[in-house]
Amino acid sequence: MKATSLKKVNCANITIFGAKGDLTHRKLIPALYNLYIESHLPAQFAIYCVDAIGIDEAVFKNDLLTGVNSFSRNGVADKSRWDSFAAHIYYIQGDFLKEETYTGLKAMMESFDKLHSIRATRMFYFATAPRFIEIIADGLSKHKLAAKPLLDRIIVEKPFGTDLETARKLNKFLVKRFAEKQIYRIDHYLGKETVQNIMAFRFANYVFEPLWNRQYIDHIQISLAEQVGVGKRGGYYDSSGALRDMIQNHLLQLVCIIAMECPKAYEAEHIRDAKTKVMKSVKMYSSDQIFKNVIRGQYTAGDIDGIHRAGYREEEQVASGSNTETFTAARLFIDNERWKGVPFFLRTGKSMPKQSSVIVIQFKDSPHKIFRDDVVPNRLIISIQPELEISLLFESKVPGLEMKLFPVEMDFMYQDAYTANLPEAYEALLLDVLEGDATLFMRADQVEAAWKVVMPILDAWKKYPSKQLHLYKSGTWGPAAADALLKPYAKEWFRLPERSVHA
Ligand code: BG6
Repeated sequence: MKATSLKKVNCANITIFGAKGDLTHRKLIPALYNLYIESHLPAQFAIYCVDAIGIDEAVFKNDLLTGVNSFSRNGVADKSRWDSFAAHIYYIQGDFLKEETYTGLKAMMESFDKLHSIRATRMFYFATAPRFIEIIADGLSKHKLAAKPLLDRIIVEKPFGTDLETARKLNKFLVKRFAEKQIYRIDHYLGKETVQNIMAFRFANYVFEPLWNRQYIDHIQISLAEQVGVGKRGGYYDSSGALRDMIQNHLLQLVCIIAMECPKAYEAEHIRDAKTKVMKSVKMYSSDQIFKNVIRGQYTAGDIDGIHRAGYREEEQVASGSNTETFTAARLFIDNERWKGVPFFLRTGKSMPKQSSVIVIQFKDSPHKIFRDDVVPNRLIISIQPELEISLLFESKVPGLEMKLFPVEMDFMYQDAYTANLPEAYEALLLDVLEGDATLFMRADQVEAAWKVVMPILDAWKKYPSKQLHLYKSGTWGPAAADALLKPYAKEWFRLPERSVHA
C-alpha cells in the first residue's frame, strides 16, 4: 500500500493457477470483482483461470458468481456488473505439468497484448497446493511467461515451505527463475485494514513513541482465536498444525509490526528491513526451555453456540491418534534495547467460543501511588477482527463527592469514524501486486527469519511427539496450561471477546 497516490496500470493479464480451489472461490474472485466495481482494475484486463478439471466455462463462471454472492463484502452481485466483469474471465483446462498449459496461456496473453498494442503487466497467482509451486514456477520460467522483471509478478501463497530448510530451498528455486522483486509472498494478515493501521497508529502519532518500550510496557498479548475448526482442511492441517499455520506467519508478522523500530521511510525495503531485525532479535530457547515457554493443545468434542462440534481427531482426513496442535501459546522475548525483558504472549487456536483477534499492550503500574484505590494500569487494546477498534483503558474519577476511581475506555471505532465499507485484505494485496508495491509482502530473508524462530519448537515437538499435548474442549479458550505461561508477568489472558473494563 503506497503512501502516495497509486500508480495506475492500464493493461493487465491476471492468471490464477488453482482456479477450482477454495481460495479462488472465497477470496480471489470476490476481491477482483470488488476492485472492478470500484474502478480499481486496469481499463483493459483478462483473468485466466487455470485448473486441471474439465468444466464448461459458463458453469465455472456461475460457480464463481455463487462465491461472490456468498463471500463478497458487497453482498449479492448486481447482474449487469457481474456480466461485464465475467466477460473478462477465461477458463483454461490445463495440467500444471504439461507444456501445452503454458504455451496456450502464452498465446492468449500475446494476442491480448497485440489487441491492445501494449505489453501488459502480468500477474500469476499460485493458489494451488504447495506441491505445485515449483512445477508452475518452472513452467512459467521455461516458457518465458514472466520474463520482464518490471512488468511480471508471481504471488505465492502460504505455507511457504514446511520448515527452514524447505523454505530456503523454495526461495533458491524461485530466485533462480525470477528476480526477488517479482516474487510476492503473501501473508493476508498484512492486508487487513486494521493491521495496516497499526503502522499509522505507531508512526504517525508521536505521543506513543516515548512510551513504546521496556520502561513503560509491562507485557504484550497477541491473541488470534478462531471459532472455526479445521473443517475440510484436515488433510493439510494435520501435517501443519497451529504453529506452522498461524504463528510462523500471521502472529510473528504482528509481533514485527508492534516491535519494529520506525523505518527510515514508508517504503517496502525499509519496512522489511525493520521487521526482519525484530525476528533476528527473538531470544531462542533451548529444547528444555521450549516446554516451559510454549504450550500446545488440541480440541476435543464440545459445543459452540449450542451446536455440537466433533473433536479434532474425529475430523475428516485427520489421523485418529493425531498429535497435531490446534492451539499454541508462547512466551517470547526480544533481545534488544527497546524490549529486553518484556514478554510477548502469543496464542492462537481453533474451535474456540468466538472469533477474535486482539493485541493488548499492557502498560506498567505507576511507581508512585497517591490514591487509595487499586489503580488499574493503562492498557491499549487493538482489535483486529471482528471488532475493528482501538481503545485505551485509563482511570477516571467516579462522579460524586468522594475521590473514587474506576477504569474507563477511550475508543476509536471504525464504524463510527468512517462510513466506507472496508476493503478486504485480498483486495488491498492484489491491487498492490498489480501496481508493483511489495510493502505488505514478505521478502525471502523475512520468511526464513520467521522459520528460524519456530524451528527449535518444531524440533522439540518432533522429538517428543505427545509430550505436554494439552486437550481442550471445543468452545473453550484453550488449555489451562496456557494460563501458567503468563505467570508471574500477568494475571490472566485478556478476556476474549467480552471487552470488559474489569478484564
Ligand atoms: C489462514 C490459515 O492463513 O488464516 C487458516 O491457514 C486460518 O487456518 C486463517 O483459519 C485465518 O484467517 P482470518 O483472516 O480468517 O483470520
